[in-house]
Amino acid sequence: MASDRQKSAGPGHVAIIMDGNGRWAQSRGRPRLFGHHAGAKRVRQIVEACPELGVKYLTIFAFSTENWKRTQVEVAGLMSLFRRYITKEARALKEEGVRVRFIGDRVRLDDKLVALMDELETLTEENDRVHLTIALNYGGRDEVARATKRLAQDVAAGRLDPEGVDEETLPRYLDTCVLPDPDLVIRTSGEARISNFLLWQSAYAEYEFIDTLWPDFSPEIFSDLVGNYGNRERRYGAVPA
Ligand code: FPP
Repeated sequence: MASDRQKSAGPGHVAIIMDGNGRWAQSRGRPRLFGHHAGAKRVRQIVEACPELGVKYLTIFAFSTENWKRTQVEVAGLMSLFRRYITKEARALKEEGVRVRFIGDRVRLDDKLVALMDELETLTEENDRVHLTIALNYGGRDEVARATKRLAQDVAAGRLDPEGVDEETLPRYLDTCVLPDPDLVIRTSGEARISNFLLWQSAYAEYEFIDTLWPDFSPEIFSDLVGNYGNRERRYGAVPA
């Protein structure tokens, strides 16, 4: 019975697949990068909405390991957008109490961008109001593969006993090792796929697939989705009492 259901607390960690920038731009007769710029503006509004909604952790998918397959113009434009975003937003993020982290493989990213990412992480490391994690050159399978490699190196070096490896071990090697698992994963733009995002971490997450294109994703829509989560029953595989 619905009235007997245990209401869960709000989602402390929300992860978002920000999809639909290209279609948003194309429907206006503009180049795809125009949509990415509009999408970047939305990021700030959504980060600002987090504290009031009780969202302590926000993780956003900015660039996947598959996104390199896009045209050279789009990839270069996105990389330049990330550099500009970090440079332009650093001070505001610091002052608003946002702690920024990046996940993903930095090896393929250019040195200038990686230096800016490192600087922003250091600049905001004392902050604790909102934890914003930006997934850049991120893929869930790639992350698990990199984690497994480091785990295997620890076994080979005698630092880790393979007999002791369990569900708690691998997460310590993931890029997200200091983060809680996401409670709610949102994907915009009507696609019902998770596209290699936080595969291990989202095992028990709720999902919301909505038609809105990312540049139209407003704090009001965000608030509604966060509110929906509070009305769902969460059983983690158990039978309701
Ligand atoms: C997917 O839309 C979006 C991306 C691949 C890029 C996400 C990037 C941003 C929102 C911009 C900035 C982010 C930060 C952190 C500054 P799409 O291009 O796949 O859209 P489509 O499916 O309509 O083609």
